[in-house]
Amino acid sequence: MRKKIMNSLVYQIWPRSFQDSNHDGIGDINGIRSRLDYLASLGVDMIWLSPVFTSPDVDFGYDISDYRDINPVLGTMEDFDLLIQEAKDRGIGIMMDLVANHTSDQHEWFKKAMEDKKSPYRDYYLFRKGKNGKEPNNWLGLFGGSAWRKVEGDEYVLTLWAPQQIDLNWRNPKVRHEIYEIMHFWLKKGIKGFRMDVINAIGKHPDFPDKNPGKKGYQFADDLIVSRPEVDDYLKEMHEEVLSKYDGLYLGEGMLMTKEAAKRFCGETTNELDLMFQFELALIDCGPLGKFDFRKLYRWSIPEFKKIYIDWQLDAQKNHYWIANYLSNHDQQRAVSHYGDDKKYHKESAKALITSILFARGTPFLYQGEEIGMTDLAFEREEWQDFEAKNIYGQLQSMMHVPAFLAEKIVKRKTRDNARTPVQWSDNAYAGFSTVKPWIKLNPNYQKINVEAQEKDPNSILNFTRRANLLRKSKDLFTFGIFEPILQDHREILGFIRKDDNEAYLVLINLTNKPSTLELKEEWCGETILQNVYNPQPLVKKMVFMPFEARVVKLSQRI
Ligand code: NOJ
Ligand code: CA
Repeated sequence: MRKKIMNSLVYQIWPRSFQDSNHDGIGDINGIRSRLDYLASLGVDMIWLSPVFTSPDVDFGYDISDYRDINPVLGTMEDFDLLIQEAKDRGIGIMMDLVANHTSDQHEWFKKAMEDKKSPYRDYYLFRKGKNGKEPNNWLGLFGGSAWRKVEGDEYVLTLWAPQQIDLNWRNPKVRHEIYEIMHFWLKKGIKGFRMDVINAIGKHPDFPDKNPGKKGYQFADDLIVSRPEVDDYLKEMHEEVLSKYDGLYLGEGMLMTKEAAKRFCGETTNELDLMFQFELALIDCGPLGKFDFRKLYRWSIPEFKKIYIDWQLDAQKNHYWIANYLSNHDQQRAVSHYGDDKKYHKESAKALITSILFARGTPFLYQGEEIGMTDLAFEREEWQDFEAKNIYGQLQSMMHVPAFLAEKIVKRKTRDNARTPVQWSDNAYAGFSTVKPWIKLNPNYQKINVEAQEKDPNSILNFTRRANLLRKSKDLFTFGIFEPILQDHREILGFIRKDDNEAYLVLINLTNKPSTLELKEEWCGETILQNVYNPQPLVKKMVFMPFEARVVKLSQRI
């Protein structure tokens, strides 16, 4: 295992909302350059940059129209080259977002495919004839509705996400090699890895059969589009032709990631990817169809959280694969609003959650603003920017017969806009993000929650995150050491030991907003070396943990 790179603290930047530099209200690459010292001070080793390629921005960069150029809204290639260099000068690598399952409908390949049916580009995509005056099959699109877009006559093309995001045909070796060439282009420039968008969806069932034949309505085609065996073939080829030639971090993102699939894609000896994201924690409060499946009424429990967390840790350890630990990203609610208490225990719960990310076995990821505890924002319907939110609002009503008021409530809760409000740098106008009104609503709590205020407070979430990460980085065992859960039946406290051959540490996190009683074994007591709330009580056999209290404890002997 390439220890140095796996031990990185990865910080995700969603560029439109990070920092504006040219007064148009949209974050940009030069804005990121101006904040590199801040990121270095946080201990960031790697930036995962959500897509900055040329894009009509239907899905804010996840619809690429030119993989070899920079979106003019975000800057120029010169700006990007400077970003790579200036980040490197501070010991920070840039990981780009490879969106290779689909291109924008504005991409040259798709335009050529549409202009001429005989063009070789036609086979870059998945054009199919309709059936009985309908789509070629009954697959549901991930943003709602049919997965097929009608192009002309009875001809359709597969678009699993927005209709402007056209799925590529990975069965065509030309497509695969185009993608590999694009990867070489950026890696040669000096980037340090890729996060690969919905990478487990690149291999579709070759026959495009109906899902649940005979059932009414569009069907979620899970096993026909996700983690199919072809994906391993493509990733092994990509590894051989590209990844093995550079020293980088290669991270997969995918739908419905199971432990078995994670083992396939990033097992120690499989020669595919380095690590994967899993979505079970992100979707803990949702029904099986995902974020907008409200059948669980968005309820979840701490035992459920603990189980998902611990099961992934143990499975990855036992089966020798590597995972990414995170609680927030540009597609999910803010962690402190989702799993913490963003009002009464804002500070405490934000720190507790960050502790759970930094001290787990695996590579830790923070999302912009998480280090200051940015929160969700109740957007009014007219304020939604996210394609998914707008589309799903209609689909919930038309396909699932959800009344409008309820559809609105569901979307408000889960819209990706929550994570996309501008980073709160200061209490100045527009939160120091821009000098003009930002492209998306700013969270008015920026006057209280902002980087500048937290810089001055030694006990802020920001300064806690720095200390916690320094501690993590001081011992390899926090990243790579053995993970051993304790107190598994405790209904409130997450507890585990991290150890190597010489030393052992205990991590304890009260995940509730209430005091919680702990009973510990004698050998688990030791010296507290990191703590997120004031509780003068040293760690003793029987004690009360404060709401959202988290501690890292050095055990006096290895156990
Ligand atoms: C996953 C990305 O994180 C999300 O933002 C995007 O909409 C879809 N993939 C489609 O590219
Ligand atoms: Ca700008």
